[in-house]
This record gives sequence, structure tokens and C-alpha cells, in this order.
Amino acid sequence: MIDQRLAVIVLAAGQGTRMKSALPKVLHGIAGRTLVGHVLAAAAALEPAHIVAVVRHDRDRVVATISELQPATIIVDQDDIPGTGRAVEVGIAALPDAFDGDVVVVSGDVPLLDAATLARLIAEHRAANAAATLLSAILDDASGYGRIVRDPAGRLLAIVEQSDATAAELAITEINSGTYVFGVGPLRQQLPLVSMKNSQQEKYLTDVVGMLRGSGASVAAVPVEHGWMVAGVNDRVQLAEASRRMNELIVRRWQRAGVTVQDPATTWIDADVVLAADVELLPGTQLKGATLVQSGAIIGPDTTLVDCEIGAGATVKRTDATLAVIGAGASVGPFAYLRAGTYLGADGKIGTFVETKNSSIGAGSKVPHLSYIGDTTVGEQSNIGAGTITANYDGVNKSATVVGSHVRSGSHNVFVAPVTIGDGAYTGAGTVVRKDVPAGALAITVAPQRNMTGWVQTNRPGTAAARAAEGTDAQ
Ligand code: UD1
Ligand code: MG
Repeated sequence: MIDQRLAVIVLAAGQGTRMKSALPKVLHGIAGRTLVGHVLAAAAALEPAHIVAVVRHDRDRVVATISELQPATIIVDQDDIPGTGRAVEVGIAALPDAFDGDVVVVSGDVPLLDAATLARLIAEHRAANAAATLLSAILDDASGYGRIVRDPAGRLLAIVEQSDATAAELAITEINSGTYVFGVGPLRQQLPLVSMKNSQQEKYLTDVVGMLRGSGASVAAVPVEHGWMVAGVNDRVQLAEASRRMNELIVRRWQRAGVTVQDPATTWIDADVVLAADVELLPGTQLKGATLVQSGAIIGPDTTLVDCEIGAGATVKRTDATLAVIGAGASVGPFAYLRAGTYLGADGKIGTFVETKNSSIGAGSKVPHLSYIGDTTVGEQSNIGAGTITANYDGVNKSATVVGSHVRSGSHNVFVAPVTIGDGAYTGAGTVVRKDVPAGALAITVAPQRNMTGWVQTNRPGTAAARAAEGTDAQ
């Protein structure tokens, strides 16, 4: 149910200089989603009445991503005044005047913070009737973060930024995570009063906390369960750390839901993948995008599936597949390459060193060895011989091949498209099929074999082959 008294502001105006990237920081990805995509997902799960995103750096690209993921997001451009305080100030100005609820502030570069943690923070804030409640963390290495300053009784006094801190304050290990809940009233009152008198000459959102405390309002800092939950991504090292951590969480979630993962360290599962119970994932498996795997399927080892659907009980071994649909009980690989638009029916087979593209292979049909099948439809229960190539491209146009049901094609065929092979037809080994084959026919194109007796002895006298042919080989 929508919480009419809740708004979330996502701060995404920063540049992310330390990423050293042409891509804005919040658009870098982990687990198949952008950083800001993870933050938006957590924000949306709170079902707030309003989500506001504050943008500035590379704003068009950031806005395009945000609007695609959460079209209802209110986009606000930050002006020339720098700092998190200014970002929130322009953010709340976009909320309806009548809104008098709570405002959650999150950073677009903190991808591991989950909705449950945010929900607990909101609950604590509301239970305490506080003006501001922030999420803190105790870190071994607090450097870079704002420090939480408490009075001797343990009550929150203020937040001091690293660059403005005294030596004593720098020794504090409790840090500000940059995640907060504020009453919108206190924010509206205090933000215009925040100065830029600090070492970075920015409007600090963190100043609001100290100002509220000074005015006698109730403010609190709640330590988060695990420090990594609030880790920000500022460079590629932290990007990889966040990526591994998120993968660990996703793998564990599926293990608890009944999926066997033999080697979590080499198994990568994107956030949007769906797995049924009793799926088995072998080492070196990457499941990406919107991949769906049904019960009892065995995937891997060394397999990458992007946006694929795998049927119940199928096996997919040492395979690279994109936008492929594999039927129940079917078998794929080892060493198969399935490109977009591959459909394999129930109990079908795409075997070793086979490449497929935009092709449908019917139930029980098999392409077992060394083939390229493109722009092709194969009916049911057909067998495509080893080394068969569909010649679907004449240099200008791509054309279709149609193979019926119960077809037996010989080894090393070329199907020169457009061409149709009728139901129940056979083709001989080495056939180049240029004309349609009627149902039930046997097609052969190879010339009859001629044996020139004694050719080797006559034309290659004295060679090992000639001696072998004469039966006089010394060996
Ligand atoms: C901020 C906090 C610090 C905290 C840390 C946690 C302040 C003053 N300090 O520091 O106490 O420990 O986060 O990571 O808030 N942003 C804007 N507009 C701006 C500046 C920043 O939208 O003008 C956004 C950034 O894109 C980012 C977030 O705000 O998503 C935080 O900004 P960043 O510069 O990383 O904050 P820190 O200086 O690290
Ligand atoms: Mg900063």
C-alpha cells in the first residue's frame, strides 16, 4: 500500500571522478542493474508517495535510465550551488506543498542498502517521533566518511566531515552512512539556513543534524547491522567489492530457496534471474538478465546464459546462450553457442560445437554435432546429420530453411536457403540441398564414387603409401 506520508530523495548529481569513466558513476552496473537501479528498487519497495531523483552530472543519460526504471520519479536538476544539503533542498522543493510526511534521503551509489533496512530506519524514526534519524555504521577504517559525534550520554550531537574534523574526531569509528529519514518540516526550516562555511565550501546536509539538535529537536543515529550494507561505490575496486557482495547475497537467497550451487565463488547470478527449486548450478555458471530456469535443470559447468528460459530437467553444459528458449528435458552442449531467437523443443538436443541463430528446433529433434543452424525451422523428431550447415546468407539477403518432422539428413550437408525439406525425407551424406526435397524422398547430390585401381602405385611409386598398398611395407 502506498505510504502517503513518505517521500524518497535519491541523490545522483555527483560526477564520480574516481571511477575514471566516460559513464556516469551511478550508471555502472552490478548484478545486471545499474547502481542507481538498485537504489531505486529499494526506494520503490517502500511504496512511497513520491520518489525524487536529484541529477546534474551527465543528467540526460542518468535521467533516461531512471525514467525507464521508475517512470513516476520526479526529476530535479541541481543548480550551481554544491553539496548534499543543496541537493536535498532542491529535492524537497519538488514535493507538493501539502506533503507533510517523512523524507528518506539515499545516495545513488550505495547499491547494497536493502528496503528492509530502510523500513526499519523509518519505523525507528516514527516510533521516536524524531526530527531526523540517520543510519550510522561502525567501520574499522572510517577514513573519508563524516564522523558521528555523540555527547557523554551517547546522544547524537553532530556530524563532522573528514576534512573539517579535529584529530580527536578523526579517531571516531562511527560514521555517517549518508542515509537519513527527516521530517519534511524540519528540512524546510533548516536547509535554507545551512551555510557553506566549511573546507569544501559546500552546503552540507549533515549540518542539518547538528542544527536540529541545537534547536532541541530529537535526532538519532542508528547503527546498521553490517557495515558493508552502506558501502558507497567510488572507484572500480569498490565496484568489484559491491558486485561480489551482492552476488553472495543473491546466491544464498537461491540456495535457501532450494537451488544447489556447487561453487558460489564462481557462480554469478543477476538480480532479476528466477530459479526454481532443485535447479543445480555447476562451477563457472553466469546467469544474466531475465534468465528463468525451471525445476531440475542442470546448468554448467562454464556456462553463460543471458535472458534465457530453460525448461524443467534440461541440461545445459559449457554453453554460451542469449535469448534462447530450451524445452523441458532438452540437452545443450558441451560447447554450444546459441544466439538470439533459438528455440529448442522438449527433449531436443543441440550438441557439441553447434551454433544456432533465429531458429526453432522442434520437440525431440537433434542437431548433435558440428553444425551451424540459422534462420531455420526444424519439425519434430528429426535428426540433422553431423557437420550440417544452413547457408542462410547469399551475401545480400538472409533466407529461411524449413526442415519437416521425422527428417533424417546425412552428415556434412549444406542446406542452401531458401529451401524446404519435407516430412520424413532423407538426404545422403555430403548432399548440397539446393532444391526443395519432397516428403519421403531421398536427396543426393554427390557424383557416384569412382575407384582408380592401382593409382598410388603408378603415380606415387616408392612412397610409404605405395608400399602399404603393395603389402610390402617394412613395418
Ligand atoms: C557524504 C556525507 C558524509 C557521509 C558520506 C557517506 C555530506 C556533507 N557528507 O559525504 O557525512 O559519511 O556521504 O557516503 O553529506 N550529491 C549530489 N549533489 C551534490 C553533492 C553530492 O547529488 O552537490 C550526491 C552524490 O551524487 C552522491 C551523494 O550525494 O550520491 C553523496 O555525495 P558524496 O560527494 O559522495 O558525499 P561525501 O562527500 O562522500
Ligand atoms: Mg563530497
